[in-house]
Amino acid sequence: MKTGEENIYMIKKSDSVIINGKSVLRGRVSVQGSKNAALPIIASAILVDDEMVLHNVPDLSDIHVMLEILQHLGASYTFENGVVQLDCRGLENKKIPDELSTKLRASSLLLGPMLARFGECEVGMPGGCTIGSRPLDIHFKGFEKLGAEVYLENGVIRAQTQQLEGDFTLDFRSVGATENLIMAAVFSPSHVILRNIATEPEIMNMIDFLNKAGARIRLTGQATVEIEGVSQLSYCEHQIDPDRIEAATLLIAGVASGGEVTITGAKVEDLKVLLEKLQEMNAKVEIGHDYITVGYQGELVGTTIKTEVHPGFPTDMQSQMCVLMTQASTPSLVIENIFTNRFQHIGELQKMGAKARIEGNVAYIEKSSLTGCRVAGYELRGAASMVMAGILADGVTRVNNLKYLYRGYEAIIEKFQHLGADIAYV
Ligand code: UD1
Repeated sequence: MKTGEENIYMIKKSDSVIINGKSVLRGRVSVQGSKNAALPIIASAILVDDEMVLHNVPDLSDIHVMLEILQHLGASYTFENGVVQLDCRGLENKKIPDELSTKLRASSLLLGPMLARFGECEVGMPGGCTIGSRPLDIHFKGFEKLGAEVYLENGVIRAQTQQLEGDFTLDFRSVGATENLIMAAVFSPSHVILRNIATEPEIMNMIDFLNKAGARIRLTGQATVEIEGVSQLSYCEHQIDPDRIEAATLLIAGVASGGEVTITGAKVEDLKVLLEKLQEMNAKVEIGHDYITVGYQGELVGTTIKTEVHPGFPTDMQSQMCVLMTQASTPSLVIENIFTNRFQHIGELQKMGAKARIEGNVAYIEKSSLTGCRVAGYELRGAASMVMAGILADGVTRVNNLKYLYRGYEAIIEKFQHLGADIAYV
């Protein structure tokens, strides 16, 4: 099977950086648009038989691939300075070949909107980061419960339906399954109720977009959504939310380096759980009307994080916290509850001298002096964490395999440079 590594947009930037460590990060940077909001929103554009404008779209390889997939279905678009102008009038139902689908995990998000718009679809298997087994059973079970037939044949997912309606309770609050099922339900002849849904901010951003375009999607309980079918969606203009994961990466890096970083353009409510944790570790946290500052104000203390679905601690901020924990004077504990294989960065941190060990889904981390060496990123957030670790370490660190980094960060290396890190592309 082909993998996402063949994504041509990934080779735009160098695959490695060299970092002269022990820089203290200080300064102010703005936050990019959210990858995890932009991807489902662009996929859901399949439902809009019209033009639309999206603002604050991050310039990332995964976003380019998603747009390329829409173009394959007959859409036309321009993407300049964060603005995507998209025309999805007259889309045709075509198979999404492996060459496109394996370039990103989020290609599974095409199933829902294609099923809703065309009544059937054929999508090659999704690709994505290597963070453990990522089955789609909840997506399929949901489609079937609402009235679709789903087949897996020779690595191709095929689904078809006459109409989607009814009530479905997700076994687990999966982000992708929630998005897919909401999109699938938009043209229901009656209505669909989804229970035990994920409520990540990115899902709310997608719901806002669809409602602006004419959908009728309403949260009716704590984790329940009701979708009343409409016959069509039309023109709308929408702002992609700021990326809470990039915001977290910048703030954590600042305090870990012993410095102070201010971010602008982020939403405080989306970072609440992180900011509380950082305060608990004795970081200085200041929230202004349009900025958030996090800084070092004295010895950091260890903590425990348990990754959970929203509003719990996000798994996408876990590896960055592991780097910070190596700087705390007392031991820390990380419990990874969302993905089965999301501790690859721990092995890389150990190469740099981190006192850390893994037992099952728990990592134990103690205060460590990191020393520069050759390390690699094995997934998107892990790659960012290795760059952070290089900034803190004594000596020179080379981080390889940065193709993963560019899947989610539009200019993180440049932002670290702006904040005072001594990093160069190789
Ligand atoms: C999304 C995010 C990703 C984030 C994750 C969890 C995007 C593009 N990606 O990924 O950055 O880390 O949410 O917050 O938005 N699962 C099943 N069966 C399914 C679906 C999921 O077992 O049908 C499991 C997965 O294997 C995983 C866990 O549930 O272990 C979480 O997956 P999910 O919430 O679906 O994450 P994604 O949508 O893939």
